[in-house]
Amino acid sequence: MSGSKNTVFIAQPGGKLTGNLRVPGDKSISHRSIMLGSLAEGITDVSGFLEGEDCLSTMRAFRAMGVEIEHLGEGNVRIHGVGLHGLKQPEGPLDLGNSGTSMRLMAGLCAGQAFEVTLTGDSSLNTRPMRRVTNPLEQMGAVISGTEKGTPPLTISGGEALKAMDYTLPMASAQVKSCVLLAGMYAEGKTCVTEPAPTRDHTERMLNGFGYKVGREGATCCLTGGGKLTATSIDVPADISSATFFMVGASIAEGSDILLENVGINPTRDGVISILKLMGADITLENERDVCGEPVADIRVRSAQLKGIDIPEELVPLAIDEFPAIFVAAACAEGTTRLTGAEELRVKESDRIQVMADGLEALGITVQPTPDGIVIEPGQFTEGSVDSHGDHRIAMSFSMAALRASGPITIGDCDNVNTSFPRFIDLACQSGLNISDK
Ligand code: S3P
Repeated sequence: MSGSKNTVFIAQPGGKLTGNLRVPGDKSISHRSIMLGSLAEGITDVSGFLEGEDCLSTMRAFRAMGVEIEHLGEGNVRIHGVGLHGLKQPEGPLDLGNSGTSMRLMAGLCAGQAFEVTLTGDSSLNTRPMRRVTNPLEQMGAVISGTEKGTPPLTISGGEALKAMDYTLPMASAQVKSCVLLAGMYAEGKTCVTEPAPTRDHTERMLNGFGYKVGREGATCCLTGGGKLTATSIDVPADISSATFFMVGASIAEGSDILLENVGINPTRDGVISILKLMGADITLENERDVCGEPVADIRVRSAQLKGIDIPEELVPLAIDEFPAIFVAAACAEGTTRLTGAEELRVKESDRIQVMADGLEALGITVQPTPDGIVIEPGQFTEGSVDSHGDHRIAMSFSMAALRASGPITIGDCDNVNTSFPRFIDLACQSGLNISDK
């Protein structure tokens, strides 16, 4: 990508996706590897790290708090952990860019520190709701100030003694669950979080991998404050959320046959595979294995005639980042697709229901957005221009729509593709998409 502001993608119509592809490392696991590695005792080596802007924001933030992190290139990172109480006060506010995961997880960790810290971000992050994390943290005894609207910047005054708590999440959110658990490491007593539906469990798995025991019973997971993290090695699998664009592209473009290598298929993340299969996609998992406590597989996708479905609500949290791409698949299916129970999509990097609805309509598709979802009728993508509103997943989803469009698709405001998928254009071209940026 050019690196200039306001990158525009131009995707030419037609083509098919073929070959073997390894998409970049998992964003959720990469963030957590920096956070937990920094707070561990000893040296943590990470391979497969996602060198996207979001994870680099987390890396910069921990460096600013005194952690030595060597960026060795090609996804290799060495973290010299300082222990749970070894962070130092940064000289200024920590700028977390576009990254909601950095902000919400770090709010929990920072609540346990002895110093004051301010967390801020870009114009998108600074409009995202943070009461969902500040409310439980305040109940634990943290003192936090945000804006009147409950948005960042957040200033977390350190030095407060945190009390453990039992917290029931008001929404299915792995970020909020993780925030409370991470604060719980600094609290006196046992902190438990109960979730209304299963959400990604990387924090629990990785804490256990760093030797910090997290128990689970049904929908509740618990840990006891005052433990320690012991350094380990982490091999980050490819991100199923990034693989999704190619799963959808290969499904909708006739003659496609693609193998996505080494993808994380954690059962709390694999909703997209279930949904696409319900729609009739031809997806098979090969070489299933376990890597550092995470299930991984190579995913083969061949083109198939998709059909519209009513997306089961229990799959929504398991595919929460994948809906922009699933909407593109739905437009290419036979029959109507209905999504409900997905109001969380409205508070992601953009309002993903409205922004996708606007873009699909601009490309000739009939859609009906609702407060908690959307209804999508099948149709033919026309040529046209869409605005990604600075949302990486919107930009990459509409790139794939070009495979079935009658003319070129121009996608505006694509800089933030770099937050999760550096070199997207190169990989997309390599696999058969005719796309360029300017
Ligand atoms: C994430 C959790 C999800 C997801 C985000 C990453 C994480 O957010 O959308 O991209 O790494 O914990 P919510 O917790 O808001 O659902």
